[in-house]
Amino acid sequence: AKTKAFQTTLLDWYDKNRRELPWRKDHDPYHIWVSEIMLQQTQVNTVIPYYHRFMKMFPTIDDLARAPENQLLKAWEGLGYYSRVRNMQRAARQLLDDYDGKWPQTKAGLQELVGIGPYTAGAIASIAFNQPEPAVDGNAFRVFSQLLEIEADITKPQTRQLFETVIRKLIPHDRPGDFNQAIMDLGASYMTAKNPDNENSPVRAFNQAYLDGRVADFPVRSKR
Ligand code: ADE
Repeated sequence: AKTKAFQTTLLDWYDKNRRELPWRKDHDPYHIWVSEIMLQQTQVNTVIPYYHRFMKMFPTIDDLARAPENQLLKAWEGLGYYSRVRNMQRAARQLLDDYDGKWPQTKAGLQELVGIGPYTAGAIASIAFNQPEPAVDGNAFRVFSQLLEIEADITKPQTRQLFETVIRKLIPHDRPGDFNQAIMDLGASYMTAKNPDNENSPVRAFNQAYLDGRVADFPVRSKR
């Protein structure tokens, strides 16, 4: 019962307040993939112009697979971590050569592609393919550890599994992609790391750490 109320509250807020972002206009896995890779180390506002330019330069997976290296690096100039775009080209070639250009639609299948780890696979599976899979990045660790007072140490590799198991039970099967993106928006607005505004958060009633005055205790990080 509480799960349902949380889902409804979160998605109602998302429906009214979602940011209109260029990669939210459709559910094309190529679009979702490119945006998620760019967003891994870079802020949303910085990514937007890069995303538009990238899609003009390489409108399809075939264009990306065939791009000469100098164009590839030019598209990424200023974003840093060039291995990201090199891996994207390798994955594009993998998709064309080994998958007949058809995307695997499961989280596990997506993780077979070069450069796609558990976070990116979860994001693509949920947003593009409506699979009820979590997309656990730093935001999700923070948001769910606070909501549920999860005491597990997020610097330990096995903790991701625990979060994924917990989150999987909370994802509404009719709107997994919106649920994950609502969590991302929450982590970028009311439930930020540096300046949280939990008093005004749409999910404050579900935020156990906030209710207990323990927001600063989560997420738990032993190493630092
Ligand atoms: N950060 C990572 N992925 C995102 C997405 N799909 N929308 C907004 N912010 C994000």
